[in-house]
Amino acid sequence: MVRKGIPVKKLFADMNDFLDKEIFVNGWIRTRRDSKAGISFIELNDGSCFKNLQIIVEHSTPHLKEIIKKINTGCSVGVSGVLRESPAKGQPIELDARDITIYGEADPASYPLQKKRHSFEFLRQIAHLRPRTNTIGAVTRVRNQISYAIHQFFQERGFYYIHTPIITTSDCEGAGEVFQIITEGEGENFFGRPTYLTVSGQLQAEIYALALGKVYTFGPTFRAENSNTRRHLSEFWMVEPEMAFADLEDDLNLAQDMLHYLISRVLDSCKEDLEFFRKFIDKGLFSRLEVVATESFEVITYTEAIEMLKNSGESFEFPVEWGEDLQAEHERFLTEKKFKKPVAVIHYPRTLKPFYMKVNDDDERTVAAMDILVPEIGEIIGGSEREYRYDVLLEQMRQKNMNIDDYQWYLDLRRYGSAPHAGFGLGLERFVQFITGVQNIREAIPFPRTPGHALF
Ligand code: 4AD
Ligand code: MG
Repeated sequence: MVRKGIPVKKLFADMNDFLDKEIFVNGWIRTRRDSKAGISFIELNDGSCFKNLQIIVEHSTPHLKEIIKKINTGCSVGVSGVLRESPAKGQPIELDARDITIYGEADPASYPLQKKRHSFEFLRQIAHLRPRTNTIGAVTRVRNQISYAIHQFFQERGFYYIHTPIITTSDCEGAGEVFQIITEGEGENFFGRPTYLTVSGQLQAEIYALALGKVYTFGPTFRAENSNTRRHLSEFWMVEPEMAFADLEDDLNLAQDMLHYLISRVLDSCKEDLEFFRKFIDKGLFSRLEVVATESFEVITYTEAIEMLKNSGESFEFPVEWGEDLQAEHERFLTEKKFKKPVAVIHYPRTLKPFYMKVNDDDERTVAAMDILVPEIGEIIGGSEREYRYDVLLEQMRQKNMNIDDYQWYLDLRRYGSAPHAGFGLGLERFVQFITGVQNIREAIPFPRTPGHALF
């Protein structure tokens, strides 16, 4: 059996329990430095936390002197030794090595991760090694904490977790950005009808909301959108709650509570990783997060947003006109310059939004939609009240030239026990990007898929 190490995270957290005792750790070597006095200092990282453990190797111990020659950046080792208070600045503890086992060597002549800072673009080309870097390791731990907290948030509020299908026959968002599924032998005939990778689990979540009351789905979604931007992926994860007997106000409140909950959790649980991002990526990280963790959204209508943008005195690349979609530059103006906090834009023109959104009774021109915008990223959440009236929904579908037969089941939900309901989708990677400050969304997911780029 492989000997189990004490996680480095635990050594730092409970150091008094381990001081002056013989312990064992496993991990990967980040650096080795040899002093003239016959001592090597190696930095070991085991991924359990941001910190490395410093290991002291005395060359006066004959067998260690031989082993240390083979220890290079990237190799994996098990080390036994005595944990000591460190006399030097920089770390509170260090491990005085007694014995070292090398599991796997790494040839320094070819190991791609060297001491210098590599560009994120380069790191994406070596996706099999990039989690061993400080940045991707920290992003991964933050993403894990967010995913865990998402489940806790919804479970604590009585939502049921459902798994909506990856293979689907509908294009929820109606934007035609679907990947079609074909098999090598049978083309698109495998299912007897065209099928696609899902763009959203919402329509199926609605089925379960209209039976179980409050549900959420959390899984991968796919968009064949040819946009090479810093906030688009072809495969991304989305959490989508759906509530029966709820309207847009309930939806806004849920989204706000969720953002407060998730950010507070990350601020509490990922201090070290966030501190790294503050230091190297975004100096204003903590104040930016505090604002979103505590403040309530500014809620404005789309019509008000258009007026504000027109009167802003800014020169935008894209036109600002009632009926035109808000672009990233408009979203960022509203949240970064105008309000300096999250902004919920509600009641968009129905022509801009998908068929399922509830038409507002008072004006017929707009739907009960909400887009939630945050600084740096722009839209992070999209949601709405759903059209639950059969006739109005049918009319919307006709106006959007949809094939009614394909969505008869969706219409049927409006024939049998229909009820007001609402939900939203939070893009996980945009949220991770917002929290960590990484410039490109491709750093917020372990294996990014974008047009022209899919590794492994
Ligand atoms: O606004 P979207 O398209 O909304 C929906 O899919 C709804 N069906 C959700 C619902 O009401 N249940 O997408 C929701 C969120 C966006 O706000 C954004 O954060 C993220 O998903 N998103 C993307 N993230 C990365 N790459 C892309 N290509 C994304 N497209 C959307
Ligand atoms: Mg949207």
